[in-house]
Amino acid sequence: MAKYSEIQPQTKQAPPREGFTSTLGVIAATLGSAVGLGNIWKFPYMTGQNGGAAFLFIYIVCVTVVGLTIMISEFIIGRHAGAATVGAYKKLAPGSKWYLAGTSNILAAFLIMAFYTTVAGWVYAYAFQAMTGSLSFSRPEDYKLAFASFTGDPWLPLFWQWIALAVTGAVILAGVKNGIERITKTLLPVLFVLLLLCDVRALTLDGASAGLAFLFKPDFSKITGVTILLALGLSFFKLSVGMGTMTTYGSYIDKNQNLISTAAKVMFSDTLVSILAGIAIFPAVFAFGFQPDAGPSLLFLTIPMVFSSMPLGQLFLAMFFVLTAIAATGAMISLLEVPVSYLCEERKWPRWQATAASVLGIALLGSTATLSTSTLSNFTLFGKTMFDLFDFASSNILLPAGGIAIAIFVSRVLSTKVIFAEATNNGQLKNHRLVTAYYFSVRYLAPIAIAIILLNSLGLVKL
Ligand code: PHE
Repeated sequence: MAKYSEIQPQTKQAPPREGFTSTLGVIAATLGSAVGLGNIWKFPYMTGQNGGAAFLFIYIVCVTVVGLTIMISEFIIGRHAGAATVGAYKKLAPGSKWYLAGTSNILAAFLIMAFYTTVAGWVYAYAFQAMTGSLSFSRPEDYKLAFASFTGDPWLPLFWQWIALAVTGAVILAGVKNGIERITKTLLPVLFVLLLLCDVRALTLDGASAGLAFLFKPDFSKITGVTILLALGLSFFKLSVGMGTMTTYGSYIDKNQNLISTAAKVMFSDTLVSILAGIAIFPAVFAFGFQPDAGPSLLFLTIPMVFSSMPLGQLFLAMFFVLTAIAATGAMISLLEVPVSYLCEERKWPRWQATAASVLGIALLGSTATLSTSTLSNFTLFGKTMFDLFDFASSNILLPAGGIAIAIFVSRVLSTKVIFAEATNNGQLKNHRLVTAYYFSVRYLAPIAIAIILLNSLGLVKL
């Protein structure tokens, strides 16, 4: 057996671990991670394709029951361990294979970043073009041509993807407090204000009410098993859960913060942003006689068409893409922090080296997603382009699988005492009913619901 003196590090104590400094900082950073392309790109196009209000309703159920449960669980794991995703499992279940759950989180972060930075690059490019006024055409078809020729070019989208990665890397280099917390605290209010302005503009259009009816009047005949599946997948992607981001951020939360109420506030605000994005988009789509079901291109085709055909359109178009770029950047920061914190804490790399290596890795993998619309458009694996494969594998397989692992870890590996201690701040908070509800959900409801959805995605169970 090693003697105590041999286990003790001989060198000086490491500096204290960086963390978020205030309640507002915690909310800003976690909300900055949750709010992203998911709200402004995925949520509207999926709602548009899946029947509007009925999809919104199912999505809200998924996010409040399953998404919230997993978010609280990740906070508990991260804060209790005081370590980022892989390290947290090593600390809480030493000598077991649970650290592999953390390793798969890092893989998921890489896969999401690979296609997320592609779309973020498109958004950066559109924001730039809208600001310089070069995104204005007279015929609707020209918007389609412009998008096709931009994404069909092998170099330009790569250039913008790398710019998006460079911006994200710069924030990560600045650290948890001066980078992540400060940037998200500054930019989130800007995003809210810009979104509200776009909402006012959309709501004052003639014919806006058809769009509102689409978003808020449910037609439940449109709901199928697949709709539920898609809504659950979106709720994971939306709340950034199932892949270690919230575990890592949880490790930066101090002992006085209320984990359940933080998670609930983030979930509520994130859903509000999605609805506000829907209010900015659907009334305008209907008012101008476009279809809501354009799919992933909704943001890049319909929105420029819609905005530029209305008064002050260029200004609102530029605003809209700038706000989307801001939202995408907050989410990318949290994704990049997953491999960076792992390399720093577990492999003891300096932060700059960890950031540079991760950015480089994502740039390489991500290039294949970006080139899916040009040079690699005919290259498929499992019948999907690289872009679609990364999206599918992460959202439909890795995130739900990660979610189940997290739920099982919390409810079966951590003791009930630890869960209650973390969720009530050692009995200081009077929220026992909430904690009991959470406990039921994490032990039974969430893992069973996710398992059914996951088996369905893998084709093993038919919904
Ligand atoms: N939640 C982010 C969005 O909606 C995406 C994301 C997923 C970020 C997973 C981090 C982790 O855009």
